[in-house]
Amino acid sequence: MTIYFHYKNPRQPPTPSPHQNFPTVSKFLGFLSPNQELMASRAAMAMLARRVPAVGSPAVRVRFVSAIPFPASGGDSSEKKAVTGPAKEVEKTVASYWGVEAPKIVKEDGTEWKWSCFRPWDTYSSDMSIDLQKHHVPVTWGDKMARWTVKSLRWPTDIFFQRRYGCRAMMLETVAAVPGMVGGLLLHCKSLRRFEHSGGWIRALLEEAENERMHLMTFMEVSQPRWYERALVMTVQGVFFNAYFLGYLVSPKFAHRVVGYLEEEAIHSYTEFLKELDKGNIENVPAPAIAIDYWRLPQNATLRDVVMVVRADEAHHRDVNHFASDIHCQGHELRELPAPVGYH
Ligand SMILES: [Fe+2]
Ligand SMILES: [Fe+2]
Repeated sequence: MTIYFHYKNPRQPPTPSPHQNFPTVSKFLGFLSPNQELMASRAAMAMLARRVPAVGSPAVRVRFVSAIPFPASGGDSSEKKAVTGPAKEVEKTVASYWGVEAPKIVKEDGTEWKWSCFRPWDTYSSDMSIDLQKHHVPVTWGDKMARWTVKSLRWPTDIFFQRRYGCRAMMLETVAAVPGMVGGLLLHCKSLRRFEHSGGWIRALLEEAENERMHLMTFMEVSQPRWYERALVMTVQGVFFNAYFLGYLVSPKFAHRVVGYLEEEAIHSYTEFLKELDKGNIENVPAPAIAIDYWRLPQNATLRDVVMVVRADEAHHRDVNHFASDIHCQGHELRELPAPVGYH
């Protein structure tokens, strides 16, 4: 199955505006010509039809770098192994009983969409017009606690990383991707428990987590963690996940405020990163391919362009989390106000 995707010129202004770009199927179809829409619809129908497994389903080609044996599953299966090069890339063909097959996506120029971790309809042009200077002035005791918490976390971070902004960005993104997932998880459970809608906040927070994880996938292309940095990430994640989980259970208002201030600090860090790039202290290398496709950057984009769009993302996260905290401050629940889904 092949879905043809019309990849827009990144230099053209997005239509509709990024604030209205909701990552839904309808948004995806909006990129397609009428003929391509028809093809995509037929492909979707074919996928739905294939949910009923049939004997002799089409073979699915799975490619991964591993020496781990593929688990046996129901139905007929056959394997074809091909070891190529030092990376021991193994290509297997599996006759799938389950009818699960990822559609092949082809860009406008005929080249295959090479990312399986995100699809063309997940990409966007960053809204660079967002105000980077916005700041929530702490008023309540809780706000001051949240600000103090973030400031106290910045002190050891500054000492550890000094001016190694590439490494700093990569490491901090491993933490930044946690709150959205924890918040989304807890709201998901709350929605199930109380038999009530979430107002779109589950999706909005999970989108934030995914966006932060894409920041990490990008920065790990330009900076590789050392063994002790990996150990630090595991330790910090273990502590931070549990602390944020408990904090969100006790006070979502405080938890969102903390993230709002964390995002303000992230904007500051990326501004410092840009200064170092401009001074020439950090080499302005070409942008990783994953970043060019995810943010629809021009082919000649550089690391500086990537830092600019990531910083704009952080400003959006700042606004979403301060907004969420304000909703709680005003005595409401998040579900009472529609969430800013697709807010990039
Ligand atoms: Fe980030
Ligand atoms: Fe962020």
